[in-house]
Amino acid sequence: TRPIILDCDPGHDDAIALILALSGDAFTPLAVTTSAGNQTPEKTLNNALRILTLLGRSDIPVAGGALTPLARDLIIADNVHGETGLDGPILPDPSFPPLDMTAVELMALKLRESEVPVTLVPTGPLTNIALLLAGHPELHHKIERIVLMGGAAGVGNWTPAAEFNIFVDPEAADIVFRAGIPITMCGLDVTHQAQVMDEDIARIRAIDNPIAQCVADLLDFFIIYHRDPKWGFTGAPLHDPCTIAWLLKPELFTAHECWVGIETKGEHTQGMTVVDRYGLTGNKTNASVLFDINRAGFIDLLVERLESYSH
Ligand code: BDR
Ligand code: CA
Repeated sequence: TRPIILDCDPGHDDAIALILALSGDAFTPLAVTTSAGNQTPEKTLNNALRILTLLGRSDIPVAGGALTPLARDLIIADNVHGETGLDGPILPDPSFPPLDMTAVELMALKLRESEVPVTLVPTGPLTNIALLLAGHPELHHKIERIVLMGGAAGVGNWTPAAEFNIFVDPEAADIVFRAGIPITMCGLDVTHQAQVMDEDIARIRAIDNPIAQCVADLLDFFIIYHRDPKWGFTGAPLHDPCTIAWLLKPELFTAHECWVGIETKGEHTQGMTVVDRYGLTGNKTNASVLFDINRAGFIDLLVERLESYSH
């Protein structure tokens, strides 16, 4: 099974990505590390511990990451994820503490120990991943691929040009996209198609186990923000779970190899992922960018994985 490290900022959709990733034996989760993003670093760390406690996975080592982006003040998305970062469900208090080391130290340790290359799955701002790559060039060969949620070839969701995770720490994203490590980019082009509708939430609510109930509660809260007519959505986009869905079933997606540059200085475009879909720059491609998803297949996968928690 594929060894993975999840670096997340839970966050409703991060929590669902974790639940999806830990639902079977497709992956060997070596560590969960947390980034500052959807909420403060203290809260995202606590939320990861609460989700792992719900899942009974105190065996997975957890460490908290950088307190701020590399070169900027932290921006949080409490308007989307609420005061706790996981408003909605009633979650258990953490049954175990984080390790007494940083996210980067834990990731480096796990990469060093692993006999086979490891897949990194970042679903928050890329601060920790950038620090790992910049601080440990000797470990790059231990990274199989970085499957990240972030960016967009089209429009942004935090500014007209930028998606939230990249906007929070563009300097970190720049380091990651220049590192020469294979990247799969699950950006808004695909995640805005990965919408969960009211009838899908009802399907999840009907699954008789506490984890599916928690996901339904998460979605009931998460969908509120996305009901604003300005988005033109029918449901709520499940951004972060697209990373795990792609790893489990890449055939649900279409992808194009592209060069992606990160805008760190633009007047209107900071945090933009400039995706060279048509090879216009002649730059060497650095990412496999996802563009389309089979939504029905994605929801079926989610439902099937949540049902597996009943057995
Ligand atoms: C991303 O921003 C966060 O709010 C979500 O968890 C997701 O990772 C979507 O832009
Ligand atoms: Ca996230």
